[in-house]
Amino acid sequence: MQVRMSAEPQPEDVQTDDCMTSYTHIYSPDLLKDQVAFITGGGSGIGFRIAEVLMRHGCDTVIASRNLDKLREASEKLRAASGRRCLPVHVDVRRPETISDAVDETLKQLGRIDILVNNAAGNFLCPASALSFNAFRTVMEIDTVGTFNTSKVVFDKWFKHHGGNIVNISATLGYRGQGLQVHAGAAKAANDAMTRHLAVEWGPCGVRVNTLAPGPVSGTEGYRRLGGPAAESTGAFSSVPLQRAGNKTEMAHAVLFLASRASSYVTGAALVADGGAWLTSPNDVATLLGYWSSEKKRDE
Ligand code: HXC
Ligand code: NAP
Repeated sequence: MQVRMSAEPQPEDVQTDDCMTSYTHIYSPDLLKDQVAFITGGGSGIGFRIAEVLMRHGCDTVIASRNLDKLREASEKLRAASGRRCLPVHVDVRRPETISDAVDETLKQLGRIDILVNNAAGNFLCPASALSFNAFRTVMEIDTVGTFNTSKVVFDKWFKHHGGNIVNISATLGYRGQGLQVHAGAAKAANDAMTRHLAVEWGPCGVRVNTLAPGPVSGTEGYRRLGGPAAESTGAFSSVPLQRAGNKTEMAHAVLFLASRASSYVTGAALVADGGAWLTSPNDVATLLGYWSSEKKRDE
């Protein structure tokens, strides 16, 4: 088949957890003016870029995760690049009391929450036969229980009476039973159901709940852990309809759509932003076992 290269440009991105050196707005720079977004896992990877892009649209942010030193460094970069406020807070999404303290601090310092992005997650390649009970439970607890815990605390303390927008960062892993991913695929599939349940229950309070399901996104921990660089070097992305991995800014733009009035009548929906990857990518357990054992050897 003749491949015609798309003329559509990719938005700016940088591979590291740093802000972009230049940025071209797609939406109005005032789209989220004076709103506040609470972003779990906002100190690195996709979450960092989501924070940056939301801030470049007038939003203040709270970035919440376990490693406060990392968050402090990230918040300095984000403030410098955007001129908006960014509050780093310690949260382990498995522990509701840490979320409760962080939300209280947010409301004390920033006065409101308009957007919640449930982005925190843990993942690694591992065949089910080698996965310990605790490993499966750990991923379910971070990804699924953590998403419920954070949504419920933010709803009880603010969204119930003020409305708001929740965006859950999911994955397409469960759509075709991706090999070596039973833990994360099961966790994200549960989150996709949670999106619909909460959209139904909380819609009447003015809360929209949607899912973004990224495909492989370069410059991220997830990409490194799941064999992205190896797939890149062997030309595996030629099987993706759009012929490439995504970048973090593309994910942030999709969140911006779901979290803003651009999508005011959208709730309970899942937006897949993967260049069509899940439709055509190989799901080859032998290749994945190859990545897994070479990673293991490197760690030993
Ligand atoms: C098998 C593993 C493992 C691995 C840990 N475990 N790493 N099992 N392979 N590579 C097991 C441990 O042996 C232990 O089980 C259990 O998991 C809990 O491990 P801990 O280290 O005690 O857990 P914790 O400190 O809570 O750390 C959670 C973590 C860690 C998920 C294991 O990797 C983490 O903090 N990750 C956050 C960053 C991250 O994963 N980013 C990528 C997200 S990407 P035992 O039985 O020994 O006690 C993503 C991509 C999705 O989600 C889709 C991409 C297309
Ligand atoms: P990442 O940088 O490792 O992001 C995960 C974040 O979650 C980290 O900042 C981590 O910070 C935080 N976190 C982990 N456990 C936590 C806990 N118990 N409590 C609070 N925070 C916790 O990886 P990423 O690749 O950018 O992934 C971001 C999101 O995109 C995830 O939901 C992932 O599943 C999804 N995704 C990624 C890809 C991809 O290609 N990268 C593809 C599909 C979906 P601390 O270590 O400080 O806690």
